[in-house]
Amino acid sequence: MSSQRTGAIQFYDQHPEPVDFYSEVITGLKQEQKRIPPKFFYDETGSKLFDQICELPEYYPTRTEMALLRQHADEIAALIGEECLLIEPGSGSSQKVRLLLDALMPRAYIPMDISRRYLFDVAQQLADEYHWLDVHATCVDFTAKMELQYCPEDVHKVAFFPGSSIGNFEPEDAGTFLANIAEMVGKGGGLLIGVDLKKSADTLNQAYNDKQSVTAEFNLNLLNRINRELDGNFDIDSFEHRAFYNSRLGRIEMHLLSKRDQIITVGEQSICMTNGETIHTENSYKYSVEEFSALASQAGLAQISVWIDEQQLFSLHYYQVRE
Ligand code: AVJ
Repeated sequence: MSSQRTGAIQFYDQHPEPVDFYSEVITGLKQEQKRIPPKFFYDETGSKLFDQICELPEYYPTRTEMALLRQHADEIAALIGEECLLIEPGSGSSQKVRLLLDALMPRAYIPMDISRRYLFDVAQQLADEYHWLDVHATCVDFTAKMELQYCPEDVHKVAFFPGSSIGNFEPEDAGTFLANIAEMVGKGGGLLIGVDLKKSADTLNQAYNDKQSVTAEFNLNLLNRINRELDGNFDIDSFEHRAFYNSRLGRIEMHLLSKRDQIITVGEQSICMTNGETIHTENSYKYSVEEFSALASQAGLAQISVWIDEQQLFSLHYYQVRE
């Protein structure tokens, strides 16, 4: 672990060892249903592709959530109160927090992300733009642990978890994650969280099968990344992007489908795939407002407010940890 002073930002490095990437990939590829956890999408290329996804006409979540944040920023700020410590796990491009900063005027902003270089650049950029803002960037795999490196006393802590990132967790794990957040922000602390709503399968399927194939490129980049970083030999052209809404389980599933029988090597390991077999790369769970509130309630969070757009595509919830 290291911490350096870099101009206006403080940078904490808790980055998972590369060995974690290797062992998680091998473990996942040895299972009956092959799988790779979605957190590995976000190398530098993946993070940039994800930003492109957010701008796609079919991908409604980002634009809808941003409109909600813009529209209700003052109300949200009034609920949260001044001078909070604003913590954002999986901060990515930190675009959405910008919609809140001026209204909220937090004491400090703590972006947490797994993509080190990207986090560093984004944090630096933010500090340049918001001179009054203390930025304490923390490079971490927030699905593994979430420790606050900077934690002044008597400051009201609020977690910001937009984008329906919560949808990547199995519902049970989402409950555990919410409980961890509740513990991190403490009694009376807050959580502002964006949750994608259940809706027609058509709308959902289009959002993950865009016409420009950016989502396909994002999915396939995982194989490129394994080739680059783990000495893999995936032939990208012999895989295809698959995404569909599984209505029984209430989730979008993304897979990489093998178009032929093949043997792949990753480092020292060989993996066989048959024609039509898939690697499951992502689940993106969708919730009704009631389903999500129940999950949060079990994690010790009391619902304070919910905002939903007119078309009922996306929801933004504010919770407080029960005293
Ligand atoms: C970042 C998990 C919210 O599930 O919509 C977008 C990721 N994957 N398109 C989502 C994603 C394909 C996104 N989350």
